[in-house]
Amino acid sequence: MASKHAWKIELVPWDHMSPEHVQRMYDQRVACGWREQEVPLWVEAAKKGGKIFYWAFLSEAVPDREELLKKHTEKYPKEATPLRDTAAEIRLVPRQPTNAEFVPIGHVAVDIHEPEEDAKLGLPTTGTIWIHQLYISRALHRGGFGAGTMAKIETLATQDPMNAKIMALDTISKEMQTVSAFTDILYGEGEGQIPLPSVSNEDWYTKLGYNAFQREKNAFTSEPKQGVTVSIDLVYMKKVIA
Ligand SMILES: CC(C)(COP(=O)(O)OP(=O)(O)OC[C@H]1O[C@@H](n2cnc3c(N)ncnc32)[C@H](O)[C@@H]1OP(=O)(O)O)[C@@H](O)C(=O)NCCC(=O)NCCS
Repeated sequence: MASKHAWKIELVPWDHMSPEHVQRMYDQRVACGWREQEVPLWVEAAKKGGKIFYWAFLSEAVPDREELLKKHTEKYPKEATPLRDTAAEIRLVPRQPTNAEFVPIGHVAVDIHEPEEDAKLGLPTTGTIWIHQLYISRALHRGGFGAGTMAKIETLATQDPMNAKIMALDTISKEMQTVSAFTDILYGEGEGQIPLPSVSNEDWYTKLGYNAFQREKNAFTSEPKQGVTVSIDLVYMKKVIA
């Protein structure tokens, strides 16, 4: 079923060669609370035609666009300066950037995994595209912008050159986002805490049509605070998109 939120969002590729785009990605990952230290790795991946990011920005059709943007930039003053559409390639395929200005309110990454990794999970080795690092400004949650971003990236993934049939993702298990024994450590308290979502990622993606098809205990170790480590349980989810 088509998303009722798709019209709210436009996507533009991240320009991994632009210092402004790279800095903004870092700032948005800090605001998100996870993995800002990986931005240099994502630059290297993009240079090799690997994982790529898209910025999400509010479409002109959103009636209260200016007010929403103000809300976003008041919460994140570092993000007040618009970026320009300058990416000259996507997965090494040349494109003509428009140079148009936009203010990203979030981002999402898409990737193609090694066929062996997909096969191990029982996924088709061609036509499976992975979603990673979805983030929407915490000033604008619950406005349909996350769902809009997902709808737009799903459509884009079905087109050339990705030609996706299945969208896959992994995310932290619902248990780890709802049981206080985990959330107290993972999301922390006081200054520096990451806001705990009131709907788990798993439930949120389920609402968007994704189905959990596998779980992995202790998939990796996170260090939410120096000296404190926690093993993360993942859920793998997928959706047929074409
Ligand atoms: C997960 C995330 C992307 C959701 O973005 P969002 O813009 O707030 O989500 P949307 O408003 O598009 O949500 C879609 C639907 O879920 C509902 N929803 C979202 N958050 C909700 C909440 N906390 N409680 C109840 N419903 C909620 C929305 O109301 C909307 O419902 P509708 O389709 O009936 O109108 C955002 O919370 C985020 O960036 N979180 C931090 C990073 C993260 O966890 N990313 C995902 C990790 S893999």
